[in-house]
Amino acid sequence: MRKNIVAGNWKMNKSFSEAETLICDILDGLDKIDEPLADVVICPPALYLEMAVDLIRETPVCIGAQNMSQFASGAYTGEISASMLQSMEVQYCILGHSERRKYFNETDAQLAQKVDSALANDVLPIFCCGEELSEREAGNHQNVVKGQIENALFHLTPDQFANVVIAYEPIWAIGTGVTASPEQAQEMHEFIRGIVVGKYGKAIAEETSILYGGSCNAKNAKELFAKPDIDGGLIGGAALVAEDFLTIIKSF
Ligand code: PGA
Repeated sequence: MRKNIVAGNWKMNKSFSEAETLICDILDGLDKIDEPLADVVICPPALYLEMAVDLIRETPVCIGAQNMSQFASGAYTGEISASMLQSMEVQYCILGHSERRKYFNETDAQLAQKVDSALANDVLPIFCCGEELSEREAGNHQNVVKGQIENALFHLTPDQFANVVIAYEPIWAIGTGVTASPEQAQEMHEFIRGIVVGKYGKAIAEETSILYGGSCNAKNAKELFAKPDIDGGLIGGAALVAEDFLTIIKSF
């Protein structure tokens, strides 16, 4: 059975003490859920990873980074490597978020390197893909997403690919309050699973978790997660409020 995953992408938000409080509130809430039906990943700003890892120790929650360098080590001022994440017990890393692609010019080629580096250091990539509104309006959304996935992931061996989580995040839905309809999201998720079948076969595709992201919240999560190819969410704004994040976790 593939995993349901709810991952919180905090982006560049929260002070240190606010971050501590939010993690503690999430852990308290999770304690009250008999058996969560999803794995929970919290991705705080890099500066708080150590604190986050300490807080979640002995709990089922995992911690993820929001970005990492494609390089292994050396003279790359300001960067953080996959091996550093591994040494801090960080288990996941979001890669290729549309904000990284847009504001920091990340390319598919760089992302392919980041994916390699993450996997070589046992950090599980949450690989983001998604189209602009204009691309959807031009009927090109599936081609765009296919290209992003092929270019950054399809050099992997089947064993490597089996460790990748995909997050479909239509750019027009991120932080806008406009969510893809469950039907639009399902259509793209089914399409993505189809390309994975074509490359790696049905067994691996069936095991691949494909998350939806883009204004997913406490109100619409249930309807989205009910779709057969939507295996959870990558949550931005709603992950910053413990109650909303917990409601999303309970939406399976
Ligand atoms: P949002 O962000 O939930 O605030 O739309 C999702 C994301 O960017 O991962």
